[in-house]
Amino acid sequence: MDLDPGTAAPRYQSGFGNEFSSEALPGALPPGCNSPQKAPYGLYAEQFSGTAFTVPRSEARRTWMYRIRPSALHPRFEPLVRQLAGGPLHEATPNRLRWDPLPFPAAPTDFIDGWVAMAANREAHTPSGVSLYHYAANQDMRRVFYNADGELLLVPEQGQLRLLTELGVLEIGPLEIAVIPRGMKFCVQLPDGQARGYLAENHGAALRLPDLGPIGSNGLANPRDFLAPVAHYHDARGAVPLVQKFHGQLWGCELDHSPLDVVAWHGNNVPYKYDLRLFNTLGTVSFDHPDPSIFTVLTSPTSMPGLANMDFVIFPPRWMVAENTFRPPWFHRNLMNEYMGLIQGAYDAKAQGFVPGGASLHSCMSAHGPDAETCARAVAASLVPARIDHTMAFMFETSQVLRPSRHALDCAQLQPAYDDCWASLPSTFDPNRRDA
Ligand SMILES: [Fe+2]
Repeated sequence: MDLDPGTAAPRYQSGFGNEFSSEALPGALPPGCNSPQKAPYGLYAEQFSGTAFTVPRSEARRTWMYRIRPSALHPRFEPLVRQLAGGPLHEATPNRLRWDPLPFPAAPTDFIDGWVAMAANREAHTPSGVSLYHYAANQDMRRVFYNADGELLLVPEQGQLRLLTELGVLEIGPLEIAVIPRGMKFCVQLPDGQARGYLAENHGAALRLPDLGPIGSNGLANPRDFLAPVAHYHDARGAVPLVQKFHGQLWGCELDHSPLDVVAWHGNNVPYKYDLRLFNTLGTVSFDHPDPSIFTVLTSPTSMPGLANMDFVIFPPRWMVAENTFRPPWFHRNLMNEYMGLIQGAYDAKAQGFVPGGASLHSCMSAHGPDAETCARAVAASLVPARIDHTMAFMFETSQVLRPSRHALDCAQLQPAYDDCWASLPSTFDPNRRDA
């Protein structure tokens, strides 16, 4: 069954964490009562909760859906024969790792079969941690999927994604991201015929905008630039495979109708998109540069203030004006674990080897920083204002050690000589010359 009878450009409503509402038919949203005895148009009311009922109001996420058939209308799920690619997790390694881009699949592969597990820090039965994947696909999904294990952050590197969700349609491409709540049903189509990118599966607290502290009331990602869909329903009968990811495994059943049949909804547990080009990038106007937390787009907090389960951080085009300063990212050893990717251009800490579609992992306390070529260039540079352009690197940063997957350590894209990019860093120490 065709899951998307409409081809119109999607429409959006803006804001972050709002109590949104939308109806595809006039009066489909019942006034006042969330679950009236008889909902308008003969619809079923269904609550979709993303948090425990009793969390503080500022944390609470839920949406009421008014749908043609309730989600409970499904047969028994059975484990799928084909599970996600990438294999089980390997033991953690303190070594610095870097990968070339994964190739596009040769065989027809939809968005779900195109996931390749790369690293994770999830402990079984623990509602925290992240699982990280790359995806590469060349076929529209002909099934509907939901992820019971976590919220999904999609970061395209190539190709548009048309996301048909229960609450409406989102379209994103490279330099945009989308977030789909835990448990929300969706289907991915590929308007360009193929697509590749990165996925973070957030098992912890839902992503939200970071606090701004002394920055004030504006800056970084502004709430109005986040876009949620409007209601878009599909009233159709016919066989539709429904797949869920539950505790790391794919399970499936077959419906006799489209589950993307929500006619109206209201709430704040919604999918949304954001254009990374709208990020208000802040930085120094004197010397040094701030920690990369200044580039945080979204964060999943832990119960310890300031300690993230996962931060999504970008390194966008920006002016570099710092005086008397080593301008690239400095050499560092951090508590946090850094999984980086590149959407376009080059990253200013690496002269070569880190290319769009590739990735790197620097784990807790592993020493890293600019490669030897970048370091030499930065020390010799004239410190005039300079613009870094045509670039968009990003980081999934997490407080728990990431274990690479078996595939990540065995694949041909793993660069065996990554350490060599620092190997030629010279000692320039001279005890007789204070001014280098
Ligand atoms: Fe780093």
